[in-house]
Amino acid sequence: MHEGQAKQREGFSSGMAVFFATLGSAVGLGNIWKFPYLVGENGGGAFLLVYFLCILFVGIPIMVSEFYIGRTTHKNAVGALKELRPGTSWKYIGLMGVCSSYLIMFFYSCVAGWVYYYLFKALKGDFVGITMATAKAQFANVVVGPLSPILWQVIVVGVVAAILAAGVKQGIERITKTLMPLLFLLIIICDIRALTLPGAAEGMQFLFHVDFSQLSAAAILTALGLAFFKLSLGMGTMMTYSSYFTDDNHMFNTAAKVAVSDTLVSLLAGIAIFPTVFSFGMEPGAGPGLLFMTIPLVFSQMPFGDILLVAFFFLTSIAATTAMLSLVEVPIAYMSEERGVSRKKAAIINALIIIIIGVLATLSVDKASLLGQYTILGRGFFDWFDYLSSNILLPAGGFFIALFAGYILKKQDLKYELSNHGTLKIDGLFNVFYFILKYLTPVLLLIVFLNSVGIIK
Ligand code: PHE
Repeated sequence: MHEGQAKQREGFSSGMAVFFATLGSAVGLGNIWKFPYLVGENGGGAFLLVYFLCILFVGIPIMVSEFYIGRTTHKNAVGALKELRPGTSWKYIGLMGVCSSYLIMFFYSCVAGWVYYYLFKALKGDFVGITMATAKAQFANVVVGPLSPILWQVIVVGVVAAILAAGVKQGIERITKTLMPLLFLLIIICDIRALTLPGAAEGMQFLFHVDFSQLSAAAILTALGLAFFKLSLGMGTMMTYSSYFTDDNHMFNTAAKVAVSDTLVSLLAGIAIFPTVFSFGMEPGAGPGLLFMTIPLVFSQMPFGDILLVAFFFLTSIAATTAMLSLVEVPIAYMSEERGVSRKKAAIINALIIIIIGVLATLSVDKASLLGQYTILGRGFFDWFDYLSSNILLPAGGFFIALFAGYILKKQDLKYELSNHGTLKIDGLFNVFYFILKYLTPVLLLIVFLNSVGIIK
């Protein structure tokens, strides 16, 4: 096929492939690393409840809107918005998504690097006979590096770029379809172990006990940001993936199944982690290191613990890798379709951008180092990349997508595409969706946002 010629666009081959790829994007470090420590820092059950509401009233409507935009145009995020409203500024929402994708990758690839490194250490048997004190010390050593965390970050980015260069079917589809089911199985094994630890009841109590006095405005924005981050929303990922969907896909079903399964994985990860935290007398609010300090302890002193530990970090690397595929697919699809760069070249260019800036995030984690002490308004690079993307850009992107779908697009166009050109009977469902999208989602987003930045009280 010649470059520049109208070429046959790749896509996923079946409903199953659509589901696993989309779930592969949603399930990631967000569930296993971020969700538990944010629940821990924000007081447990009440935060969890707000998070569920965000998924229901904000997450799912925006996901369906993104699905519409992608599948109806079969284009990358920028190209899709350009096609739907030519000559307007809406395409900048797509470009904003490309920027969010980079911001997330800068710190995500760092944490994914720690995960790959932990997998390697688990294989070497570094965690045999571990205690709480040595678990903490090992994590501190891993992040301080400075060379090894950078090396692992480079490996992670290289793996992702290589899979993406292979294309949508041969790369994304093949990997997610094989690995997602395995992930579920492994995480359930971890849960069984955690639930048989002595602190299990206390851990479950922490996770599911609702106490609203713990909840601040900042925590509500964090829950909202987490919902976006978790479901890969507000930045063009779901637009890009849905542009590869099959035309007979029931997009309401896909959105609901992905949201429910993803939330289930987060809860299962929480159930694996909090019993351990309480059983070993750790701080639930220990922050980004929580996963890395608890999990090696979960499996210590148990039969086959060393093998299960390897399995756990293997599953976390799978989750991180499949989520990164979807993150980097946003700029790759944009570059190859809008800028005429080949997929392979786009994969290389993006890998280089991510590594060069991502190293700043990685080096900023060691608080004793030069970069670690460098802060802007109290935050270092790692924290800024995370905060700007999750708490600002994704909710802002989501807000504009909700406005676009609810007020700019025509209602009958949305309904026509979401009902697969009239072949699905979705009248009632569509009306509920449209009402929420138009009147609840943008209003909720605006209130939470203005409240947390202090403009309204
Ligand atoms: N949803 C992924 C996770 O939870 C992260 C992600 C965010 C992926 C945004 C794509 C887009 O880990």
